[in-house]
Amino acid sequence: MKILLLGGGGREHALAWKIAQSKKVEKLFIAPGNAGTSNVGENVAIGVNEFDKLKDFTVDQKIDMVVVGPEDPLVNGVYDAFKTDPRTSHVPVIGPSKQGAVLEGSKDFAKAFMKRHNIPTAAYETFDGNTIEEGLKFLETLKAPYVLKADGLAAGKGVLIVPTLEEAKKEFKEMLGGMFGNASAKVVIEEFLSGIECSVFVLTDGKNYKILPEAKDYKRIGEHDTGLNTGGMGSVTPVPFATKEWMQKVDERIIKPTIEGLAEENIDYKGFIFFGLINVEGEPMVIEYNCRMGDPETESVMLRLKSDIVDLFEGVAQGDLDKRDIEFDKRSAVCVMLVSGGYPEAYKKGYPITGIDDVEGSVVFHSGTAVKDGEIVTNGGRVIAVSSYGENKEDALQKSFKEAQKIKFQDKYFRSDIGKDL
Ligand code: AMP
Ligand code: GLY
Repeated sequence: MKILLLGGGGREHALAWKIAQSKKVEKLFIAPGNAGTSNVGENVAIGVNEFDKLKDFTVDQKIDMVVVGPEDPLVNGVYDAFKTDPRTSHVPVIGPSKQGAVLEGSKDFAKAFMKRHNIPTAAYETFDGNTIEEGLKFLETLKAPYVLKADGLAAGKGVLIVPTLEEAKKEFKEMLGGMFGNASAKVVIEEFLSGIECSVFVLTDGKNYKILPEAKDYKRIGEHDTGLNTGGMGSVTPVPFATKEWMQKVDERIIKPTIEGLAEENIDYKGFIFFGLINVEGEPMVIEYNCRMGDPETESVMLRLKSDIVDLFEGVAQGDLDKRDIEFDKRSAVCVMLVSGGYPEAYKKGYPITGIDDVEGSVVFHSGTAVKDGEIVTNGGRVIAVSSYGENKEDALQKSFKEAQKIKFQDKYFRSDIGKDL
């Protein structure tokens, strides 16, 4: 098979690494990829939202399957673009339709969907420019802290958690006034939930589904979860509180009604669903849906997937996922993200990276890297993920921290407390 994978971050390098291990794959292309993906496949200089070019490439190269990494092309309708074009309609796209991606693309839609299907989530209401007064009144009925969410995609920055009512009212008005452009033309105000978070991933063919290993992600830049939110500073799988009993509740109360709800509403969904969950006194609740795998969770979760991922993707495409085997590695896996100094605020790019080849016993996934004059250089905030197996998470973390020391670039930073809260 010839596969085209869309994306160019750490998640895509981890997916490419796993796809390339499949005996079913004859050739793997990654558009646009990064310096790491070129070690496991061939990079193609096409952007993830250049649908016409992606389709031309698919036709020219006789691609058999397209796998979508990031949310952007899904929300923009890459699935539908392939499906409605007679030249590419036979090529399965692993990822939901535009309508399915709205689960991530609109918080208001996701909350209303959960309400319709009795899926446990925080109480909420949605407001826009015509209902500012109602929104201010609704805030008064809630307890601090206040959770304000831009309805649309805002590059992971659209959620504000505000300590006082005064500030919440001010931020609410600013959000509706265009703080996140059109993404905050509608604002969801919701009840604050207190608990520890966990990411659960499901692959579905629209009817059947497989649950992948769960993971915990570390979002803040500073040790002990302080400072600004980032795209993710590390991940750990398995998550100790996600016991068999807890995961059973997740399956019955959250996953099953979500898959059935999508089918009932005739939403075409063949791909990954990422459930951002929170454990509230032992009860799982949904914080958010994403229509793709998590980053940096994929960089640890892929290590624990023993089955052939392409066989699972074929199950998704053919609607017989129930007939495919899925097996996991019992070991722990973790990832520690090396980032550019200054991230998630301003940082410099283009610093040479050395020492990658000295890493032993861990897997290096490139996130924000590029090749310049034959040299690997930094090209993003999150630069490299160092992923490791271990008999337990401590063992795995120790390996990642040790190997992380060998990779060098100017102003490198990483969190040395990943996994320590669990
Ligand atoms: P999101 O962009 O939806 O993932 O939200 C960003 C982060 O905000 C989440 O990972 C949570 O840590 C936090 N958050 C979102 N909604 C709530 C809520 N209702 N209660 C508490 N924390 C929340
Ligand atoms: N790790 C969180 C995300 O991918 O959105």
